[in-house]
Amino acid sequence: MVDIVAFSIAAGLVSVLAILHFTKGTGWESTPDISQEILDRRAATVPETSFPEPMNRAIGGGGGAVPAVGEAGGEEGAELEEAEEESQSPADMPEDEVEYHEIELTKQGETIEVASNETILDKAEDEGFDLPYACRQGQCVSCAAYTPDGPSEDHVIHYEQETFTDDELEEGYMLTCVAYPIDDFTLETGEAP
Ligand code: FES
Repeated sequence: MVDIVAFSIAAGLVSVLAILHFTKGTGWESTPDISQEILDRRAATVPETSFPEPMNRAIGGGGGAVPAVGEAGGEEGAELEEAEEESQSPADMPEDEVEYHEIELTKQGETIEVASNETILDKAEDEGFDLPYACRQGQCVSCAAYTPDGPSEDHVIHYEQETFTDDELEEGYMLTCVAYPIDDFTLETGEAP
C-alpha cells in the first residue's frame, strides 16, 4: 500500500518537472549595452575647445597633438630645447666640463675649492664645516648665505631655488644647498635677507 502511494507521489513530481522543463520562458532579454549612448550624450554637452588635454587627447574634437621636443620647427623648437637645457642640473654635467672655483668662507677663515658640479653646502660639509640647512631642496632659507662680491648669480647657478626674489639674488644672497659655483668669490654663511 505504502509503495503505491510513494510511487504515485514520485510519478507526480516527475510529471511536474517534465512540464516545467518543456514550458517556454517569458521571453525576457537583457538590455543592450547603453554605455556608448551615454558617452555620446556626454560628449554632446562638452563645448569644443582648442586646449589639448594631457596625452594629446582633445575634448569634442578640438585641439591637436603637441609636437615633441626636437620635432617642433623654427623658433618654437629652439625655445623648447633651451628650456630643457636650463632645467638640467649642473650636477649632471660631463666630467670633462667640470671646473673648480675657490670660495672663501669668511666666518670660518678658510677657503674651499668647489667643483662646478657640486653644491657649496655638500662640499663645505665634506671639508668638515657644520653649515646650517633643513630641506636641502631650495625651498626654505635655512642654508642662506651672502656674498659681498655682487649679484649671487654672477658667481653661482641655482638649481631650482624658488625662495629668493630677483632683488635678493641681485643683492648677493644665495642658497648653498642648490648653489653650484661658476666663479671664485667670498661667502658669509648663515646670512639671510
Ligand atoms: S636647506 Fe632649505 S633651501 Fe637650502
